[in-house]
Amino acid sequence: MMGKISEQTGNITPGLVTRCGIYSSVLLLIVFGIIQAEDLHLGGYMESPELRERHSTKELYRAAYGACHQLVKAKKCAPLLVRLGWHDSGNYDGETKSGGANGSIRFEKELGHNGNAGIPSAIALLKPIKDRYPEISYADLFQMASAAAIDVSGGPKVDMLYGRQDAQSDSEVPPNGRLPGAAAPFHKAVGADPTELAETMTPAEHIRAVFYRMGLEDVDIVALSGAHTLGRAFKDRSGACPMASTKHTVDGPGTKGGMSWTTEWLKFDNTYYQELLKGEKGALDPELLKLATDTALVTDSEFRVYTEKFANSQEDFFQQYAVSHKKLSELGARFDPHTGFSIEGTQGVAERVVSTNYKK
Ligand code: HEM
Repeated sequence: MMGKISEQTGNITPGLVTRCGIYSSVLLLIVFGIIQAEDLHLGGYMESPELRERHSTKELYRAAYGACHQLVKAKKCAPLLVRLGWHDSGNYDGETKSGGANGSIRFEKELGHNGNAGIPSAIALLKPIKDRYPEISYADLFQMASAAAIDVSGGPKVDMLYGRQDAQSDSEVPPNGRLPGAAAPFHKAVGADPTELAETMTPAEHIRAVFYRMGLEDVDIVALSGAHTLGRAFKDRSGACPMASTKHTVDGPGTKGGMSWTTEWLKFDNTYYQELLKGEKGALDPELLKLATDTALVTDSEFRVYTEKFANSQEDFFQQYAVSHKKLSELGARFDPHTGFSIEGTQGVAERVVSTNYKK
């Protein structure tokens, strides 16, 4: 019989030899191929099962990062996603180690907190990506979307870590009132009842209370406020703007209306600081927004040093922004593995929306 071991002699018939030869060649090719692929990725080392799993997790995260890029481009929603990431992490309290980047902003309880109007739309925008990549925690997705939004808008690359674990229930939602207010009277933003008003608090004192509570410093306050180079305030969200619409926002891009801090508010650059300083030279554009907390970055002498620095050098701004944003994105995060992991290689590959067409 062809291709069968002879029961008497143990010899293999010629047909079997041929087939075995083909099988073993194919097997060798596959094994060789795998080793080569591992070589390319891992410098010659074979992956342990744990490493292999981590490796595929990274691929998944990279794909989700790409999906965030596409979403931002399609929906022109960079500002809203940056605000989402900031509001999830920005309620961290260093003393009680509560709040922070744990995805708790998805719970109704936290969405109802002061300052979170409009945030449900941001979470809804990310839902298709969460559905497609359910392995990615909400906490990671919110921070990833923010970093991708800054990247797409022409801003700096933030050296992000991933692996944040989610808050499992709204029992992890911290007290209301930890996010900053835009106008007086300001609330204390610290302690058991952060909503308690502090009638005599200045805007500078208020933002210091908020950011110092998180363990951040003056330079972080000024750099992170520069995120207002993106986006707008809306009458029907925060209401923190004197005009419902301006010449800079009446036609969009994207959602129309609102009041922006800069003329090209889908572009991440240092014009926020330049606009802040223009006021003193009598060149103020009344159709651009300045919250009391923005103005404090010019009137407070210690903040002002950084405001001038960032207005004069976009490079200095980007460098500091990337550092401060990374810190903000990790506040209160419980990473698994505890060091977190990076998905390096993803950023900077996608085409950016450096120059959105603002000319109508
Ligand atoms: C310093 C204290 C801050 C105050 C008082 C403040 C206040 C506000 C207010 C009132 C709005 C308008 C919201 C609306 O009407 O939809 C807003 C929008 C925004 N904020 Fe802040 N913010 C602060 C810090 C930050 C930080 C640290 C970031 C990010 C790192 C940030 C990012 C944004 C962005 C991107 C928008 C635009 C959102 C959009 O266009 O939908 N803000 N902020």
